[in-house]
Amino acid sequence: MVVAACRLLLAVFSCLAVVFTVSVCLNSVPLLETQASDIQGQSEGDRTRGEHGRKLQETVASRVVGETQCLDCHRSEYARWKKSKHAAGAFDTLRTDKDARKYAEALGIKAADITAPNSLCVQCHATRQTLESGEARVLPAVSCEACHSASGGAAGWLNAHAVYGEQGSSRVAETEIHYLERKVKCDKAGQVRSEHLYQLAKTCYSCHIIGDEALVNDGGHKAATQNFEFATKSLGEVRHNFHLDQKVNAEAATLWVDPLWNGKGRTTAGHKRLMFVVGAMADLEVSLRYLAQVKDEDGDFFESMSDRVVDGYELLLEDVLEVVVEADEEDEADEENEEEDEEEDEDEDEDEDEDEEGLPLLAALLEELEEIYTRLDDEELVLEDDRTACIEAADAVAKAAMKFVAKHNGNRLDALDEPEVPDDE
Ligand code: HEC
Ligand code: HEC
Ligand code: HEC
Ligand code: HEC
Repeated sequence: MVVAACRLLLAVFSCLAVVFTVSVCLNSVPLLETQASDIQGQSEGDRTRGEHGRKLQETVASRVVGETQCLDCHRSEYARWKKSKHAAGAFDTLRTDKDARKYAEALGIKAADITAPNSLCVQCHATRQTLESGEARVLPAVSCEACHSASGGAAGWLNAHAVYGEQGSSRVAETEIHYLERKVKCDKAGQVRSEHLYQLAKTCYSCHIIGDEALVNDGGHKAATQNFEFATKSLGEVRHNFHLDQKVNAEAATLWVDPLWNGKGRTTAGHKRLMFVVGAMADLEVSLRYLAQVKDEDGDFFESMSDRVVDGYELLLEDVLEVVVEADEEDEADEENEEEDEEEDEDEDEDEDEDEEGLPLLAALLEELEEIYTRLDDEELVLEDDRTACIEAADAVAKAAMKFVAKHNGNRLDALDEPEVPDDE
């Protein structure tokens, strides 16, 4: 009886998890519809263009509170962040690197305006903030809210996310209703946390792949950070998984792995593999959207984006899908050899995504993308005719990726290599 009741509760819980993901998904739908070139999500709103992009930037900037507002409760995270290039290097580059002026000049940006609040450069090398007085400022860093989304305002997530109930309530004493309401509030306010692994990944790629064609072709700015891979890059200097133990910087977000609300079964290794796959999907979506905007098919920007799409497709096919399918086939062959192994049945329910072969979601997605991949690979893509196809492909990736994150805890990916912490850490 008790077991059955628990199962039921768990089932209700996973349904709720799906509802959350969907609600986050829906939040970004209007964005995608009104301006297909936009990348979903609020923090990325900073890097959108045009009239729509400008308004969005204003709203986002007016809700940025700045990293000092996080310091009191997140000391270890803050200290770690402070040592990363995001905290100072990213902005200082604009003033100290001799190439900065060169890039800016080519775009008609005066040297004195490179670090101004409305500068293109500031969208990625810093964080914009608009004060209540209307004064526009530049926080000279890729701040916490550049990744986790702007948090302030009466309906913002800053206040909502840190309260467990009546004053003084502890984390373990929080009621389920309170917990669920808190998460809904944070989702409505656009908070991006490790539960939203896909949005997090896309946030990185929206800065680490340069979406401005003129900046790349005319300015000579790199088209992307070389070999940027979400899992590995997040495990390096950016990592700050201290929440449940302020002394240990864990390899996976402690709140994501914690069984309190998530149930048992999540592992650090699973999380890292999930990051790898989700990161590859985010790279593909962002690159496809940029590809759809290309004006000059002879420029570096076009070449760079089309290479990314080709590489991204091949990575997901050869290094993810095929590896998992092959491992499944080997398992099956082994099982046939040891038919006496009946105890296995008991373990079956333990991992909910264990009952499927391969990765059907990813397989279906790749099938959908096959045509565009083949034409790109054969250099037969005609942008004037294929822009819509690129946007539709990007939408398909986003949709599949959100479902993938809702469904998988990463354990299903155990045939993949586990992403490693970079050597210099
Ligand atoms: C008053 C204390 C307090 C302040 C100020 C605060 N936080 Fe938090 N934060 C918390 C607590 C407590 C949690 C853990 C919530 C939980 O257990 O679900 C948390 C969790 C988080 C998480 C992880 C959420 C998750 O579920 O994965 C992020 C991200 C975060 N905070 C970012 C920030 C940022 C950015 C700021 C500054 C703009 C900030 N916080 C300010 C107390 C605070
Ligand atoms: C879409 C995001 C984005 C925009 C917009 C952007 N940058 Fe960058 N920039 C980056 C990233 C990411 C790097 C780090 C590249 C790396 O790690 O290799 C970088 C690196 C640089 C560097 C370091 C040296 C080099 O050439 O790699 C300079 C200088 C620079 N940017 C200047 C500028 C200037 C000036 C502007 C505005 C005219 C600008 N950037 C706009 C994302 C951006
Ligand atoms: C608002 C734009 C922005 C966002 C969002 C962003 N970055 Fe960066 N990042 C930069 C810029 C600009 C630099 C270049 C700093 C420098 O070289 O001085 C940088 C540098 C880095 C570096 C150090 C240089 C390197 O390539 O090793 C790492 C690691 C990194 N970013 C990882 C990430 C990860 C992981 C995410 C997402 C979780 C992310 N970044 C999100 C703008 C951004
Ligand atoms: C470059 C993007 C980026 C920046 C900047 C950033 N974070 Fe994070 N944050 C992440 C990522 C990525 C994760 C972990 C996601 C995962 O592993 O699931 C994370 C996780 C967290 C967590 C949860 C850790 C845990 O143990 O569960 C907290 C709390 C947090 N961040 C707070 C902050 C605060 C405070 C700042 C600023 C001082 C900040 N973050 C700056 C990307 C960023």
